[in-house]
Amino acid sequence: MKGDTSLRWWQKTIAYEIYVNSFQDSDGDGYGDLNGIRSRLEHLESLGVGAIWLTPVYASPMVDNGYDVADYYHINPRYGTMEEMEALIKEAGDRGIRIVMDLVFNHTSDKCVWFTESEKSAGNEYSDWYIWKDAEPDGGAPNNWRSIFGGSAWEWSESRQQYYLHTFAKEQPDLNWENPKVREELYNVALFWLDKGVGGFRMDAIPYIKKPAGFPGGEADEVDGMTGIHEMTANTPGILDFLNEFKQRVTAGRDIFTVGEANGVTPADLQRWVGRDGVFDMIFEFSHVNLDFQSDEIWCRTKKWTLRDLKEAITASQKATEENGWYPIFFENHDKERSIEHYFPKNADPVKAGKALATVLLMLRGTPFIYQGEELGMTNVRWPSIDDYNDINSVSQYNIALQNGLSEKEALECVYRFSRDNARTPMQWDTTEYAGFTTGTPWLPVNENYQTVNAETEALDEASVLSWYKRLARFRKEHAALVYGTYTEVLNDREDVYAFVREDGEEKLLIAVNFSGEEAEYDITSTGAGETEEILISSYGDDDDRGGAMLERLRPYEAVVLRIANEV
Ligand code: NOJ
Ligand code: MG
Repeated sequence: MKGDTSLRWWQKTIAYEIYVNSFQDSDGDGYGDLNGIRSRLEHLESLGVGAIWLTPVYASPMVDNGYDVADYYHINPRYGTMEEMEALIKEAGDRGIRIVMDLVFNHTSDKCVWFTESEKSAGNEYSDWYIWKDAEPDGGAPNNWRSIFGGSAWEWSESRQQYYLHTFAKEQPDLNWENPKVREELYNVALFWLDKGVGGFRMDAIPYIKKPAGFPGGEADEVDGMTGIHEMTANTPGILDFLNEFKQRVTAGRDIFTVGEANGVTPADLQRWVGRDGVFDMIFEFSHVNLDFQSDEIWCRTKKWTLRDLKEAITASQKATEENGWYPIFFENHDKERSIEHYFPKNADPVKAGKALATVLLMLRGTPFIYQGEELGMTNVRWPSIDDYNDINSVSQYNIALQNGLSEKEALECVYRFSRDNARTPMQWDTTEYAGFTTGTPWLPVNENYQTVNAETEALDEASVLSWYKRLARFRKEHAALVYGTYTEVLNDREDVYAFVREDGEEKLLIAVNFSGEEAEYDITSTGAGETEEILISSYGDDDDRGGAMLERLRPYEAVVLRIANEV
């Protein structure tokens, strides 16, 4: 309710994810870095951002671009120094922006000294820091789990003469959370960063930290005889004991927030994770971004979905966090394709589509997470060969597609659609060479559309996606109902329009977004929500020249926010 001061700072702000490799290079080596981020804080401030989630900046061999951590206490030299990190925390803080660290605690790099020691023998200090198992009598792996990046989740170690478990790539061995010394050390890592003044943590791959006792195999897939590790280990009972301990030891009572990356935690489970006594403040759950997959996130095994499925998924999460808990709203991150292509038809005007989705992102209840470039309407890429791709999962998924009988061309189509590189191309700042991202050669090619899709050009154009983001960010600040108010979906049956009401007792706002390329008329009085009174903002920009009955009509991909009268 308006005037309710019980919400905390991170519930009232907008968060922004920076994929450090691709945001801004300052030293011409072609990789983004900390000084690059420091030089771009104004851009974030203009979007009303109060928290930056930084993807991992720790020392790493970069097999999975930093999600393979070799040393949690040191900054990756590619990105800068600890002094520069401290300067970033300070300078961002001066602008009211807090830095949120990505804690990769399910696994480390195989180059982390904990692992290199662990691999040496079964009788040293680190022996039980990872998950080691003997071979089966025939020399085979302990079970048939398939890692998330494809292939067996077990890797044979010659030196230790045992298998170790890796939920992701073989260079990312899983830590053994059953070992209290491991947990202790991870808490120390988190406390080290809290001492530096960070504003919170994003907890990477967190549902996988607990494995089922006995490590049972699963039903064999007809193609490779394996079973996805996600099905076997995600949210194993007992996991919340670990996470409660983490909360008690590290985060409880501090003015920070935690957001768990918790794929597979459904809205029904949400209360235990983020409820009043939950282990985190928020979790990223993926039901609305993984609508495309049958299971296991295998890119070549897709299923069809409609706008109603998307609306149902979002509404379920909004409802699950209605009474307590809080929702991080997102459509993009560094693991997903760009949202314009994800949620709109191929021929949709990308500027209109980008603005339509922005409206949902910034008007829902929760903390919006903008992913870098989303605010510009950046789109996917299509490169000629699989060899052009950097993302290890793209390469794995390409091979899985071939294994599933697809042709090379078809396999590449799966990569075009879902590659993580789609979201990882350099940020597009201006029209100069390499879009102002670097003066050297960028580590990943710049999207060809940077001449029109870039921050500088868009800032000068009132009709751009970027200008719309800024407008929505201001609008959110001006209307308390958008932060404090309730969420009610209306017109639920529509396959073309997503509409919801945000209400705080003082004001009632209707957000209506047309996801189709056709005009859409609707009747809001039929929902009992009230009567539309006035268009406050429209993504077409001509807010004022429609009146009366025409209020309830949306043009292709149009998004509007209307005030509605409380009394019907
Ligand atoms: C999720 C991260 O977002 C992704 O980029 C990474 O590959 C895996 N976790 C493994 O850490
Ligand atoms: Mg650099």
